[in-house]
Amino acid sequence: MRPAEAAESLPPRCYSSQDFLDLEIERLFRRGWHCVGRADRLSDGESYAAIELAGCPLLLLRDADGTLRAFANSCRHRGTRLLDGDGSCRRIVCPFHGWTYALDGRLIGAPEMEETLDFLKEDYGLLPLRLGTRDGFVFLSLDADAPELEVWLGDFSALHAPWSLGDMVTARRREIEAPCNWKLYLEVFNEYYHLRSVHPRSIAGLFDRPDPPEAVTGQYLTQFGSHEGTAGLLDRHRDLAMPAIESLAGRNRGGTRYTWLMPGFAFAVTTDLLWMHQVTPLAPDRTKVTMTACFPSAAFDLPDYEARAAAYFERLDLAIAEDLAVLAEQQAGLSSPLARPGRFSRLEPNVAAFGRWLAGRVSDG
Ligand code: FES
Repeated sequence: MRPAEAAESLPPRCYSSQDFLDLEIERLFRRGWHCVGRADRLSDGESYAAIELAGCPLLLLRDADGTLRAFANSCRHRGTRLLDGDGSCRRIVCPFHGWTYALDGRLIGAPEMEETLDFLKEDYGLLPLRLGTRDGFVFLSLDADAPELEVWLGDFSALHAPWSLGDMVTARRREIEAPCNWKLYLEVFNEYYHLRSVHPRSIAGLFDRPDPPEAVTGQYLTQFGSHEGTAGLLDRHRDLAMPAIESLAGRNRGGTRYTWLMPGFAFAVTTDLLWMHQVTPLAPDRTKVTMTACFPSAAFDLPDYEARAAAYFERLDLAIAEDLAVLAEQQAGLSSPLARPGRFSRLEPNVAAFGRWLAGRVSDG
């Protein structure tokens, strides 16, 4: 719980114990609010996305009016998961016995139920969840006692306003499985210390010395680092830069802001690219990661958009491949009974800050 310069890292068993992961699911992921990606994952028309949060299959549904809602992905008859993947649909039909739901969650069809006593379809709509959107991100809560989303996020929107995050458009989404604990994956994304040793020939040269993290009022961490131009391209592709975010001014026109929406979502935004990682713990040492990259809308009108976008994706994928290799080694070392807590450099303040946040949450019964 000490400041970074005086703190030790989390005990190694926090990264390898099933009991600790169970505690995190209960006290971190089933409480508070969680960013689950971008609102434009669901197209403007009637559409759905099946997702998972804290071991719970969930549905995001957009109706014909454009309203976005979230529900448990579980039939109210005998519990079957209703949908998988993403797509468009006008209603949801359970694959088991055919109960049918509207995109606002109402049960609109239930065959052969006429003789069931006191059965009213309006009592058996899909179970709704709390949902909010901010700056193009979708937030869900499984927690009826969580504060309102604006309280949870505090000054998040104001601090990120220069980047007009709500105007960024998704260009690519992909999923990978990382061979490490979910926290390790997000920690490496949020520290500058490893850049020279893990990314010496790819992205280390992109980053200068970062600013200290800002003091913020929401459940997030953030840190800005200035550098020349975009952080979204390797040096050899500098001539393929996308149009910059129009609203950027002053020092923000060269640099990158890294932000960690606790617990399980982190993103970075540079002059022309927003990229993000959502983690879903699968086991203490395995994590599903959903990665999304967004550009300013003007980028999609470029005649050579595909070639330019490919250069950005090459840079993102290269950095992740380099990180995954070292994360597998970190997981192996931390899983040993001989592993011990370590100390932090001045380039890891938000790893220490996340440890403090987590320690406060898991010890708050
Ligand atoms: Fe869905 Fe029976 S479980 S209709």
